[in-house]
Amino acid sequence: MAEATTEPVRLPPGPKIPKALVGIAFLTARHRAVRAIGKRYDGTFTVNLPIFGEAVVISDRDLIKDLFTTSGDLLGRATNLGTVLGPGSTFSLDGDEHRARRKLLVPPFHGKRMAGYEAIVEDEVLREIAGWPEGQEFETLQPMMRITLNAILRTVFGAQGGALDELRELLPPMVPLASRMAVLPTFLRRDLGPWSPWGRVQRSRRRYDEIIASLIAEARTDPAFAERNDVLALMLQARYDDGSPISDGHVADELLTLLAAGHETTATTLAWAIERLRRHPRLLSRLTEEVDAGGSELLQATIWEVQRTRPVVEATSRVARERIRLGEWVIPKGHAIIASITMSHLSERNFADATAFNPDRFLGATPDTHTWIPYGGGIRRCIGAAFANMEMNVTLRTLLREFEFGTTYSPGERRHSRGIATAPARGGRAVVYRRKDKSVMQTPSDAQRVSA
Ligand code: HEM
Repeated sequence: MAEATTEPVRLPPGPKIPKALVGIAFLTARHRAVRAIGKRYDGTFTVNLPIFGEAVVISDRDLIKDLFTTSGDLLGRATNLGTVLGPGSTFSLDGDEHRARRKLLVPPFHGKRMAGYEAIVEDEVLREIAGWPEGQEFETLQPMMRITLNAILRTVFGAQGGALDELRELLPPMVPLASRMAVLPTFLRRDLGPWSPWGRVQRSRRRYDEIIASLIAEARTDPAFAERNDVLALMLQARYDDGSPISDGHVADELLTLLAAGHETTATTLAWAIERLRRHPRLLSRLTEEVDAGGSELLQATIWEVQRTRPVVEATSRVARERIRLGEWVIPKGHAIIASITMSHLSERNFADATAFNPDRFLGATPDTHTWIPYGGGIRRCIGAAFANMEMNVTLRTLLREFEFGTTYSPGERRHSRGIATAPARGGRAVVYRRKDKSVMQTPSDAQRVSA
């Protein structure tokens, strides 16, 4: 655990390149830049970044453990996504307010609840794949984005009918535009009319708020309100320690946050899973055999290995609220500390033969939470981890049950940064054939139900 200190500042060494050049390297080739600098400085270095300023980048297991076990009083959030998602977003909260909100949000996303959402996800997968062409290559990223969008709108927003249709249209262009604008200086976020980017975000946001207000009103008058298990209904029923509810405005901000954090991240991981599986034919047939037999151990290990080798969020960060000691380093107040997920996952100290894609490494073993960190860690660990895991598991097992995948010797797809998530550059291309030998299992067996 990091501790507050009055010792003199002691930062790890790092490249002495001007901020603008580092900025260009991080914008154009973040993955390669981090790996190259990380290799040169053994996984821990100081770098001067645009937006963050001077930041300490870490990947060593002990430092990551210290970071993730440090109290929120010493380390604050370092993302400015909250500025576009609204003051009621988890991304806008810190300290006690953040703790109180997490306490209310964690139960709806608990692993045990996830089995209740599996049927909806499977329904969305079957609807999406009904139109997939046979025998011709196509990209899976957009189909995966539709599956994860619809799954979140139905299970988290509790949306159906006209509201579902309208949110499906409204949100896909609005969320990425708003996220891109979050990294721009505030003065550029000005409404310069209906065609300006911020003007478009604002107009969509007003319509979004109206739809959420009607979903909230409907939920409150629903005779089955108390039995509903969508996250919107659970948030409306939740109470802070002083008995007060989450305000309606904060519920709207939080739903948008859950969608922004959970939709693209899960879809890009699924596209990577397809990209990896097509290049590992032996694994593909073992997985099909396992799914047909009603098992899920190898599939779970495969999901973990896809997330290790192709993490879609490459880093997570905190800001020191005081001068702190982290391992041998003393970091001044206001400095950012970036846990590099990429470097941690590719470190030979953490994983033997780290660059190899080998799901067998996780058979009979659960990943260590301070080296396998695709969902970050500590008090800001991803709230939706169990939800994402369930969604990926249901999607992949349904695909394996329905299709035979064409395998390929072509080189792996390169990484392409989409702003929030890193996706396969060619969209996770696939070739599929409907299975004639399909062993029909419409209802998942208990062995297949998952909640990580
Ligand atoms: C494969 C899919 C996903 C990945 C890789 C992912 C990754 C992450 C990461 C790295 C963080 C930052 C954690 C930290 O700073 O320690 C995070 C935070 C968060 N994620 Fe996810 N996420 C995924 C899916 C989801 C889903 C499905 C949801 C909700 C439906 C979600 C909701 C959130 C929220 C609300 C936070 C902020 C937590 C906080 O600040 O307290 N994520 N996620």
